[in-house]
Amino acid sequence: MKKDKITIKAKSEGYRARSVYKLFSINKRYGIIKEGIIVLDLGCWPGSWLQVCKEIKCRKIIGVDVKRINPIKNVEFVNKDVLSEDLLSILQRYGKFDTVLSDLAPNTSGKQEIDNFKSFQLSERAFLIACDVLKLHGNFLVKIFQSEDSQGLLGDIRKRFSFVKVFKPENSKKRSNEIYIIAKNYVG
Ligand SMILES: C[S@@+](CC[C@H](N)C(=O)[O-])C[C@H]1O[C@@H](n2cnc3c(N)ncnc32)[C@H](O)[C@@H]1O
Repeated sequence: MKKDKITIKAKSEGYRARSVYKLFSINKRYGIIKEGIIVLDLGCWPGSWLQVCKEIKCRKIIGVDVKRINPIKNVEFVNKDVLSEDLLSILQRYGKFDTVLSDLAPNTSGKQEIDNFKSFQLSERAFLIACDVLKLHGNFLVKIFQSEDSQGLLGDIRKRFSFVKVFKPENSKKRSNEIYIIAKNYVG
């Protein structure tokens, strides 16, 4: 498959994936990743968001994915399915997080209804994990494919955070219906 221009640009700048630019533009606007904070990145493979956190000098960075990443110095990696029951107890060992990121995405089947539902399941799981591990006033960023279920999740997120916005990155692939929900100030 031919690599697109954004992927080539990312690689030439030393980043592992094109999604790096989505996080840069979200962070420029909403400032959810800052120097000195503790970050959890769910669905982190191949690791471009981890690279961003490292570049910004986050104090502690933990990534989770079913796919094993090539190690990044000073980044801890948990090779787990986010749906696995023991993940929460593993994450609790790291203490509370300032920011939880989730770029989790299912393997797509091409059948939109199925893919939307799988994306909803992953994003809902990321939300439940965030509610468990975030510090009070912490921030949460989650990707989801737009559907009726995503609207429901957005409603639930609004109840737990005082500032919530929906963001569609400019460089999302044209046919993609993904959006990012930015939720700031976790109120418990
Ligand atoms: C779009 S990629 C993430 C890209 C990453 N943000 C980056 O910039 O390098 C989505 C990731 O979600 C992971 N994923 C999907 N389902 C998962 C699950 N149940 N548990 C853990 N990771 C999962 C995939 O393995 C994939 O690596």
